[in-house]
Amino acid sequence: PASDPGLVERARKAKEALGDRLFVLGHHYQRDEVIQFADVTGDSFKLAQQAAARPEAEFIVFCGVHFMAESADILTHDDQKVILPDMAAGCSMADMATFDQVEECWEALEDAGLADQVIPVTYMNSSADIKAFCGRNGGAVCTSSNARRALDWAFEQGEKVLFLPDQHLGRNTAVLEMGMSLDDCVVWNPHRPNGGLTQEQLERAKMILWRGHCSVHGRFTADSVDDVRARIPGVNVLVHPECRHDVVLKADYVGSTEYIIKKLEAAPAGSSWAVGTELNLVKRLAQRFPDKNVSFLDRTVCYCSTMNRIDLPHLVWALESLVLGEVVNQITVDEDTTQWAKVALDRMLALP
Ligand code: 13P
Ligand code: SF4
Repeated sequence: PASDPGLVERARKAKEALGDRLFVLGHHYQRDEVIQFADVTGDSFKLAQQAAARPEAEFIVFCGVHFMAESADILTHDDQKVILPDMAAGCSMADMATFDQVEECWEALEDAGLADQVIPVTYMNSSADIKAFCGRNGGAVCTSSNARRALDWAFEQGEKVLFLPDQHLGRNTAVLEMGMSLDDCVVWNPHRPNGGLTQEQLERAKMILWRGHCSVHGRFTADSVDDVRARIPGVNVLVHPECRHDVVLKADYVGSTEYIIKKLEAAPAGSSWAVGTELNLVKRLAQRFPDKNVSFLDRTVCYCSTMNRIDLPHLVWALESLVLGEVVNQITVDEDTTQWAKVALDRMLALP
């Protein structure tokens, strides 16, 4: 069972035995049974910053998904080992942009005579080789908490941006925060020749958005917002920018998971909030703020299944293996990829 007291005790003991040799990072979407053992919790930006915060720790156990553990490996020194308790904890959005597809897109932009005007920017939710691609080609990484600043930077470097892999974060940031129009954005479909776009469309576009999305946030709809407003008078609708553009347009507030938490911390007692992000976090916030009416934006949307792969049995297994001197599920990024992905990550970390 999820809250098996025997497993809780075993995790606690293993953590104690490892002491300062261990550093546990936990993303806000992790299960309660896991997040209780995190030394630091955060959104993907905070966790990327924190990954390097304990250079003396031998093991970094990453309670999150694969691309986050890869980024932690890139940002930490060679002697530190990053461990993902379940290798099946991937991200369907990150899988929507493969290296070969992105290279094919770039070649098409070169053939169109446009590549030298285009700066590639990838959302953190992408594989290390996509981040390295951005590093090699003058681009950067961004997260949902700095997408605007990363895009401002990119438009100082070039005239157009290729935004990977989340079309919604790219469109929401461009249109709602930077004053671009929907016509300034085109969507590159990696399954169609030339992305399904004409030369003229590519020439006119400022933002070339990759056709990717989050399978969890993409399920909130404009109807979800209308329904919750009808059910809860005066409700504030607070959503993550991975939600579709029509959902974000109807919401009152939009921001990363860290922003969502801060917004609720500052909310007055008695206020009502419908939150459109991952369910583990929303449930935790509802418990944490019993004096505020916090609900899930759409009850038909479920947990992120890959975030949920990290459960207490997997965490206990990873920690106890370390106690026994065995490193399981280590995430390693090769040297060349690390070097270029780090260029792109460092550009993000250096944003004002
Ligand atoms: P943030 O951590 O940037 O809010 O992103 C949410 C997410 O979907 C992570 O997978
Ligand atoms: Fe990927 Fe969405 Fe899950 Fe985040 S919530 S890990 S973007 S599928």
